[in-house]
Amino acid sequence: MTSTVSHAILLQLGEQYGLPLYIYDAATIIRQIGRLKRAFTVPHLEIRYACKALTTQAVLDLIYLEGCGMDTVSQGEMFMALRAGVPSSQISFTPSGVMLSEYMYALERGIHVHVDQWHVLEWIDRHYPGASVTLRFNPGIEAGGHSKLQVGRDGSKFGFQAQDLDVLKAFTDNLSLRISGVHMHLGSDIGSSGHFDEAYSILLDIAMRWKDTLQHVDVGGGFKIPYHPDDHALDMDSFGESVSQRFRAFCAGIGRDVTLILEPGKYLVSEAGHILMEVSGVRGGGERPMAFVASGFNHFVRPMNYDAYHHILNLSNPTGAIVRQDVVGYLCETDTFATDRMLPEIRQGDVLCLMNAGAYGYSMASNYNARPRPAEVMVYPDGRAVLIRRAETMDDLLQTDMLMNT
Ligand code: LLP
Repeated sequence: MTSTVSHAILLQLGEQYGLPLYIYDAATIIRQIGRLKRAFTVPHLEIRYACKALTTQAVLDLIYLEGCGMDTVSQGEMFMALRAGVPSSQISFTPSGVMLSEYMYALERGIHVHVDQWHVLEWIDRHYPGASVTLRFNPGIEAGGHSKLQVGRDGSKFGFQAQDLDVLKAFTDNLSLRISGVHMHLGSDIGSSGHFDEAYSILLDIAMRWKDTLQHVDVGGGFKIPYHPDDHALDMDSFGESVSQRFRAFCAGIGRDVTLILEPGKYLVSEAGHILMEVSGVRGGGERPMAFVASGFNHFVRPMNYDAYHHILNLSNPTGAIVRQDVVGYLCETDTFATDRMLPEIRQGDVLCLMNAGAYGYSMASNYNARPRPAEVMVYPDGRAVLIRRAETMDDLLQTDMLMNT
C-alpha cells in the first residue's frame, strides 16, 4: 500500500487538476522493478510488464526505461509497447480467443506469440513456416484471490491442458514451427509460494519435452501485493531465491542457460496508484452514515467486480473521530467502494484517497452513465508532477459517438 507521495502533495494535485484524479508515484514503480531484479538470481532474467494493468503511455515509457519488456494481449497494447520504444524481441503477445489478424500483426513485427489453441498453431505454421512460438499451458491449479482471478485451474479457458501433452508434442513435431518457450499464468493475487512452486514444477516438467529448442520459460505474473493494512504480501526475496535455485538446476539439467521470464502487472503498478475523489454529500440516519463520492465503478471497478478491499484515506480530516461508515459511488446502480469501514468522519467536500489504484484502475475504467474518465498525473522521483493524460470531456464522448455512426 506504500507510495512515497505525501498527503499534502496529493491534495495539492487534486486542487490543481480537479477531481476525481489518478495520481501515480514513479518511485514506487521503480522500487518494485528493483525488488524483482534483486530477488531472482538467474543468468538470464526478463521482466515483461503485463501492461493491461495500466496501459497509459507514460507508464509504459517509464517501465521500459527501467529495463523491462512488455507482455501484451491486443493489437492496441502491442502498438503502445512499440511506441514506448520496446524492441519487438522484448514484447510477447499472450491473447485469448482473438482473431488471426492480431497474431498476424504480432508476427509481422517480430513480436513473440504465445499460443494456446490448435488452430492457431496450424495457421501460423501455414503462413509463417519456421516461426518461433511459445506454448501456453494450464497447470490445473486453483490459486489466487477472487474466483474470477484464478485462471490456471482445471476448466479455465486459458492454455493447453496437461492431458493433451502427448498429442500436442506429436503435433508440434510435425510442424515447421520452433517451440522456443513454454508459458503459464496461474492467476492474480497469489500470496502462497506453495502454489507457485507446484505450478512451476509442472511447467518445468512440460518444458523438458521441448528442451532441444527451448530458449525461455515464462512463469507469468500474479504476485500478491498487500491491499489491506494487515495483508501479507508474497515474500519476494525468499520466493525469488527458491524459484531461481530450481531454475538454475533445470538449466544445469538441460545443459545450457535459458531465460526466465516474469510477467508482473499488479506487482509493478498497484501500490503506485491513488484515486482521489470528492465527497458530494453524506446521508445520516440508517444503520451508519453513508458518504457519496463523485466517482464510481466507471472509474475504479475492483471493489464491485472482485469484492476487492481498497484502503481509503480521508485526506481532508485525517485526525477526525473514527466512525463506521459506508462509501458509495454516484452511478445509478449498486456502486460501493467500502462497507462498514472505520474511517475518520467523512464530511461533504472532503477528499478521499483510494489506495492501490494503479493496477486495473484506469485501464478498466469506462464511460458508463456517460461519465468522462479522470485525468492521470505522474509524480517523478525528482518531485516533478506531470499531467500524463488529461481528463476526458463530454465533447470527447460525443466525438466518439459521432465517429462510430459514420
Ligand atoms: N500474464 C498474463 C498472461 C495475464 O493474463 C496477467 C493478468 C498477468 C500476466 C499479470 O497478472 P498480475 O501480475 O497483474 O496479477 N483485473 C483483475 C486482474 C486480471 C488479471 C488478468 N491477467 C484485477 O483487477 O484484479
